[in-house]
Amino acid sequence: MTEFKMSPFVKWAGGKSQLLDTLIAKLPVQYGRYYEPFIGGGAFLLGLSPKKAAINDTNSVLINIYRQLKENENEVIERLRNLDSVLCDKERYYRLRKKYNEKIMQGCTLDTEVAALMIWLNKHCFNGLYRVNKKGLFNVPWNRREKGNSFDESNLQAIGKYLRDNDILIRNEDFEIFCNQVQAGDFVYFDSPYIPVTETANFTDYTADGFTLADHQRLANLFDVLNDRGVFIMLSNNDTPLVYELYGNKGYKIQSIDVKRLINRNAKKRTGKEVIITNY
Ligand SMILES: C[S@@+](CC[C@H](N)C(=O)[O-])C[C@H]1O[C@@H](n2cnc3c(N)ncnc32)[C@H](O)[C@@H]1O
Repeated sequence: MTEFKMSPFVKWAGGKSQLLDTLIAKLPVQYGRYYEPFIGGGAFLLGLSPKKAAINDTNSVLINIYRQLKENENEVIERLRNLDSVLCDKERYYRLRKKYNEKIMQGCTLDTEVAALMIWLNKHCFNGLYRVNKKGLFNVPWNRREKGNSFDESNLQAIGKYLRDNDILIRNEDFEIFCNQVQAGDFVYFDSPYIPVTETANFTDYTADGFTLADHQRLANLFDVLNDRGVFIMLSNNDTPLVYELYGNKGYKIQSIDVKRLINRNAKKRTGKEVIITNY
């Protein structure tokens, strides 16, 4: 374990900071490599800091940040310092959002500039949401706060050092392909986009984050395959009937827990129930 307590460099939907202690208490006693196929903001990985890990996400702009921090966190920090040296008023926010989107549209090489811009936008956008339109362009409005640092320098340095000094593989592919390499005795934590609390007809073929009913079925099949392979598996999701259809009556442990929801437009819906499923 590194001494500095690392934490996510972006606020991310489904971030696991509040559940960290619960998840750590449920870890297997011993395991080989730590795998996280849906890394997002990485709260569990950073809280745990395993020496051997593999992380993955289909969001290539997000994965670019992990890669840039691993390669060259000082250049990312320098760019963030420059971004923070000027107050973020409305004009500046929308100008930099446009610049970021132009780089994405041009299919630019993902680099330290895109990494810094994404961290900066995450801190200055409404509710710290990451949301893109159908063209993949970031469309969250400004949070109307002109002041405030968009990063914690010690945290970014610690993350860069952690990713470099340990055996950490970083991938950008679908979760099923990513899990091909998992071996008996390894540990996988699945934190996919969640099943909507109220499953609508829409959910069967389309969701805002692109994770459909078919993907949840694919994930449940993979859970069984990895279980047969002798892998330790933990999975988070909303506590919904579909979860019990997919994972119930198979000998897995399903624990229901109360959670606060950080990102919900309706303040009354900021509490709910989630499950943690394990095969051990
Ligand atoms: C609920 S978030 C993970 C939250 C994360 N545990 C955290 O602490 O921030 C789900 C992530 O899955 C990613 N994702 C969606 N579809 C995917 C797929 N088919 N394969 C891999 N990652 C995917 C999204 O980009 C998103 O970052």
